[in-house]
Parts: sequence; structure tokens; C-alpha cells
Amino acid sequence: MSESLQTALNSVRAGKDAALGRLLRFISIGSVSNAPGFDQQLLEAADFAREQLLDAGLENVELLNVGEHHTPLVLASDDSAGLDAPLVVIYGHFDVQEGGDNWSACPAFMPVVQDGRINGRGAGDNKGPVVAIMEALRAWKKGTGRLPVRVRVVLEGQEESGSGAVIEFVASERAAAFFEGASAVLVCDTLASPDGRPSITFGLRGLSYFHLDVYGPAVQMHSGHAGGAVQDPGGALAHLLASIWDPESAEFWVPGLMDKVTALSDRERGLLSRSPISAESLQHESGGVPGLITVEGSTPAEQTGALPAFTVHTLLTGKPNPGAAPTNIPISAHADFSIRLVPNQDPDEIGELVRAHLEAFVRDYLHDTVRIELTLLKGSSPVRFSPESPQIDAAAKAMAASWGVEPAFLLAGGSIPIVGHFEKRIPAPIILWGGTNADSNFHGPNENLTVENFHCSAEGLVYLLHNLSVDQGATV
Ligand code: BES
Ligand code: MN
Repeated sequence: MSESLQTALNSVRAGKDAALGRLLRFISIGSVSNAPGFDQQLLEAADFAREQLLDAGLENVELLNVGEHHTPLVLASDDSAGLDAPLVVIYGHFDVQEGGDNWSACPAFMPVVQDGRINGRGAGDNKGPVVAIMEALRAWKKGTGRLPVRVRVVLEGQEESGSGAVIEFVASERAAAFFEGASAVLVCDTLASPDGRPSITFGLRGLSYFHLDVYGPAVQMHSGHAGGAVQDPGGALAHLLASIWDPESAEFWVPGLMDKVTALSDRERGLLSRSPISAESLQHESGGVPGLITVEGSTPAEQTGALPAFTVHTLLTGKPNPGAAPTNIPISAHADFSIRLVPNQDPDEIGELVRAHLEAFVRDYLHDTVRIELTLLKGSSPVRFSPESPQIDAAAKAMAASWGVEPAFLLAGGSIPIVGHFEKRIPAPIILWGGTNADSNFHGPNENLTVENFHCSAEGLVYLLHNLSVDQGATV
């Protein structure tokens, strides 16, 4: 092993406790981006990230405001490896979704370490992995005085609300110069394998996320007096949502939605056949749902990674008032729902197909008894990569070196909006590094990252930077 790698490894190991402390401080900032009212916390988190990168010793660190967006990006660059060294783009996000209810380990933004897990909103998604990156950079800089590769770091604070600022930045001329010559892009925002191995993800689903308003009578009416003639918007909404997808065959009813979807290649199917995402793992993680959706001819790994999915996230009509049992016809009904997308499904195109389908349904089946308004709230393009490249090999070897086990290759069902834009703009392999335990419970109560995965990721990333420096993929 090279002496400098050994020095960096020693340094990351010596810094473990301090790293944990830094992560706990980061989590406690509460930088929520999917609800209004957290601008101050988002700014504070951006500032915290900037300070950490400066403190790690990176050469240039700045906050960049983009367009009309409130939350700045955190950019950093470092050329201490020398101008001939390979360039690695590193991405992460410092925003989180709302804290939510039903936490038992701790309040969402008062993190605790308990039974080997760091609990708190953002522990896994995505502050833990972001701090792991910072620790790896710090270990190289503090230990050896330099990095083994040139780096360009981009951290954003709007991932959970659609990545507006970073998408605008990546399309800019400034970004073209910033990323010029990159030979790898590193994104640490995916899950490890349910069997405990770290993972390399070779595809993400995309997302079309909708809000649907259904308007009925202009005034609330007595359902005895008017029911049967005046359509209730909640009932209409139920029909509209049910018209999107057939629960029996698990096929979509939206015309055109599947037109561009192609079958998995044999190579992909082969990799997925060894995927640890299974009926058992999903049923276990769900706390025991009575059954799973089955698609004929597809495994659960294919269903969650390579097929679209329809989900209703929120539903509302009338005024919820348990026990009051009102007998009225409410004036409106509202839903948030989404469709996860697979390669060749464009979020805006799918948005238009869904719009045309729902409008036709209102006309043909609801006979224009209600009025609807459909809004496409956010979108993310699906991506699929080659699992074979020297850069992916470099990552697999780095994971094996730190976790002591080879990574699993997965298709992830979640979405990361910027990845499709990186794919378009940066002609280099994208490494989706999955070091967060699969039971991390992203976005839910008791979100957590195991202390072991946190430290293994930091150490693994120390190896990765080295591996990427040695002729693109030489071993440690
Ligand atoms: N880190 C997740 C994406 C993810 C989840 C990857 C699970 C792999 C497995 C990311 O922060 C996220 O939650 N993204 C949103 C997208 C968005 C546009 C709100 C998602 O997938 O819901
Ligand atoms: Mn995330």
C-alpha cells in the first residue's frame, strides 16, 4: 500500500469521534426544504458545510446564489493533486424532508447515538454521507497535505424539493468550466443492500410528482338534498386516481405511458437476479404488509427498480372531524400523487399524458360534473448506467477494502434529480455509492445511519480517491 494512502487512512481513523460530533451538529440544524419556513436553517446548513470544507483544508470554498433560489449552493474545488491529476466531481445535499411524527428514538432534530445507530432526520439522507465525504477529504488534506485527485464539490439544499438551483447551475457556462475534464462523478445518496453489503447503483427511477385539485359545488350542500345529482369531488377524485393504474394486472391505464419503455437487457436482468431486494426484504422492511403487488414475469427487484410505480401520497376532502360524521357534499378534494419513471420516460411528457388522460376521464366518465386542476410539482429523469467502467471498479474495490465485502449491484427505486443532468453535461461515469443501511428509513420516523456504515463510508471514500488517482481504477 502506498505510504500516502496509509497516512490518510490513519488520519480518517483517528478522526472518527470528531466526525461523529460534526454529523450530530449538522443534523441538529433542521434544514427542511420540502416545506416553507426553513430558509434560516437552510442557510445555516449551507454555512456549516462551507465551514467544514474550509476546515478540511480545501483550496476554494464558496456559497453561490443561483437565480431566484433562496438556498445557495456550496461549491469547493481543490487542485492540490496537480493539474495532471484526474478530476472528480462530488455531489451531495444538505436539505432534508420534514421531521414528521412518531419518532421514538429522539425528536427528529435532536439526534442521538443509540444501539450503534445515529438517529435523526438526515442521518442517512443525506447528511451522514455528506460528512463522510468531508471526512475523507479532510483525512487526505490533514494527513498528507494534498488530495490524490483534483476535486469539484457541489452541495445543494433543494434536493427534496426538486433541485432547482443546482439544475440551473449545471446548465450554466460557469459549470461547464468548473466540471471541465472530469473523469468521474461521485454521488453518495443511495442505499446499501438489504443484506448489509454496500452497494453500487447502476440506475435510478425518475419521478413525475403531481398535485390534483377537484372542484365540485361552489357551496357545501346537503348530501340528502342534492346527492345523486351533484357529484361529490371526493368520489370523483377516487375514480380519477383509480383510473391511472390497474391493481389486478399492475399495468397502467394511462394511454402512451409505457410506449417508450424497453425491456431490461440480459446483462441487467442477470445482475438483478442476484439483487438482494426481494419479497422477503420488502415485506420485512414494511413491518409486515399482508401481501405485495405482483407483476407477472417480474421479480420484486425489477418491480422496484425497472418498472414505473403509482403512489398516492396525500388525500383530502371535506373537513376531517372524527366522530362528527357530516352528511354534506364538500366543495373540493385534493391529492398529491406521483409516478416513478424508468428509462425513456420523460417527466414532462408523462405529465402531459396523465393530464390528457384525466381530462378525458372527466369528460367521458364523469360527464363534466367536476372541474380539475392538475399541477406537475416536480420531476426527475430516470437514469441507467453501465455497471462496467474503471471508475466503477475503483469504487467496488474501495468498498471491499473498507467494508470487507464486495458491493451488491442494484437498481434503486428512488430519484435524485441532478443525476440525469450530470449525465447530459459531464461525459464521465457516475458512481452511485450506497453506504447507508437499507433500513435507514429515509423520510420516515427514526431515520438512522449505523455508526459502522458512517465510518466505513468515510474510510471507503479515502480508498476511492486514491483508486481514482491511480490510472483510473488501479487497485489499492
Ligand atoms: N436519497 C434519496 C433518493 C433515494 C432513495 C435513492 C432511496 C435510493 C434509494 C433522495 O434524497 C430523495 O428522496 N429523492 C426524492 C426525489 C425528489 C424529487 C423529491 C425521492 O426519490 O422521493
Ligand atoms: Mn437524498
